[in-house]
Amino acid sequence: MTVTDAAALAALAGEHLDLVRAPFTLPRSRVLVFREGDGVRVHTAEYERSLAECRVLDTLVVRDRDGAALPITAVLPHVIEFGGGIGLTFAGPHALTVGRVASASERIETTDGQGLDTALRAYSTDGMSIEWTTPDGALTRIALDDETTAARLDIGADRNVQHAASVTHPADLAATETIWLDWFERCPRVRRDLQSMTAFCWWVLGANIVELPALGHARAVVPSKIGYVGLWQWDAYFIAVGLRHGDPELAREQLELAFRFPSDDGQLPDVVHEHGVLATSDDLPPSDRETLRRAGSAIADPSAPVPLTKPPLAAWALAKVLEIEPADDWAREQLARIRRSQDWWFAASDLDGDGMPEYGHPYSSGLDDSPIFDGPLPTTAPDLGAYLVLQDLELARFAERFGDADAAAHRSRAERTLGLLLDLWDDERGLFRARAAGVDVVSDTVVGLMPLLTGHLPEPIVDRLVAALADPRRFGAAWAVPTVAVGDADFSPEHMWRGPVWVNTNALIVAGLRASGRAGLALDLAERTVALVMHGGGPHEYFNPITGQKAATATTAFGWSAALFVDLAVGLSSPPVE
Ligand code: GLC
Repeated sequence: MTVTDAAALAALAGEHLDLVRAPFTLPRSRVLVFREGDGVRVHTAEYERSLAECRVLDTLVVRDRDGAALPITAVLPHVIEFGGGIGLTFAGPHALTVGRVASASERIETTDGQGLDTALRAYSTDGMSIEWTTPDGALTRIALDDETTAARLDIGADRNVQHAASVTHPADLAATETIWLDWFERCPRVRRDLQSMTAFCWWVLGANIVELPALGHARAVVPSKIGYVGLWQWDAYFIAVGLRHGDPELAREQLELAFRFPSDDGQLPDVVHEHGVLATSDDLPPSDRETLRRAGSAIADPSAPVPLTKPPLAAWALAKVLEIEPADDWAREQLARIRRSQDWWFAASDLDGDGMPEYGHPYSSGLDDSPIFDGPLPTTAPDLGAYLVLQDLELARFAERFGDADAAAHRSRAERTLGLLLDLWDDERGLFRARAAGVDVVSDTVVGLMPLLTGHLPEPIVDRLVAALADPRRFGAAWAVPTVAVGDADFSPEHMWRGPVWVNTNALIVAGLRASGRAGLALDLAERTVALVMHGGGPHEYFNPITGQKAATATTAFGWSAALFVDLAVGLSSPPVE
């Protein structure tokens, strides 16, 4: 792809950067810039801290010679442009600079070969000023003249700001633009109607890169710089599945980070973050524990620590990442960890000893608020059974490919788990049941559709699940697939995992339909999923299944929604767009 293409894709992404749902940021940086009145405000992104706690500047305004605030006129991935030829950009991950800049349109129109310089000469900053307030109420004003044409704001780890006049603003602007153009060079080319949202989703994946300095400056693509600043185990899988189409190395990095800190008995942690890992209920941040307490949950203060992990889809993600670029030695190392984690489920999380592992905590399912967890724990769940079958089948295929493990043992365990999974089938109601501490759960939820992923269900059961997907009283909502059946007493269109549509569960159902021999329906659901993201205005965390809009409490610029949009869009653009 030529640079012009990368610039065009960056511009397409720029159209989505409203500085509300999509803040201005830079790969590796924790600095976020949002719109505030005529100017902006600045925050940092930190693990388990709200934006309100992470304030850097409450306002930053650019004023003209008469003291009037200059409005924001354009946003591109590398610059926020204000009127009067002023732009805000990054000077590395920890600093912003604000100063004179030619507008993008004028730069492109310059034809004499001088480029930026010529366009810049048209402006004088004399009499303009930049003004900001910090959370302690202090106001700072820098007057611009033809000598001081830019200010640099360095943001420290403690969120304090140091400022100075800057002469490197044009170079900072160019360097920031280069970072983004390099990123957009890698953006997949897809069907024309999907390209603009794909460019935005690709921006989200780049924007969500943070550095974890304690881990040798590893690059974690986080679920969201607004709210989820860490590497969540299964988020990393979905994110890698999207990243593989443009940056397989970064995709591998996500999986490697996710697998890097198993416990002694092989369990993978729920989250890897800048201060360590979240692997048991003892590691829960106080705010989380308080939320659980308020909800009256007994798991806020268990008598013994409860392991926290995420669903066993690691081998599924690994297989997908390797499809694009084989990396055998690397894959073997990862597989050793995945095998141990798969064994962990059977050895340490079969809590009632019946051969079928359970979820010991809702967080380990990834569907925290699902009504299947309204009753007592542990929870036997058909999605867990399905993932375990799928993972053993993947591990068997890997064992055959690398000759380094016992394929037959994986296959026979998959067969045994499949048998136990089929015991959960309720033929009368046409669903796979969950069980709360051995008692049937009545709620009809999306977890009951996941057994499609095994590809080994009896045909009559596949038919019933397909009928459930089309049934308007069950999963055939205006915007599919709701996480709780529309006609269920627990259905709630705005409450996370109790009705809203999530892109990851949709993508898993697409894969399940394909594995179960329903390619046409899989294609149809893939189309409806990308249509939902475009209708809803971006890769939000979850969507109202009645309106197709972002649910009020959902975060935005969400990693796996972006990554799986990219993956679905690439899949729908065949033959591939060159
Ligand atoms: C929420 C989701 C969980 C996800 C995490 C990070 O807790 O329920 O599935 O892993 O956010 O995105």
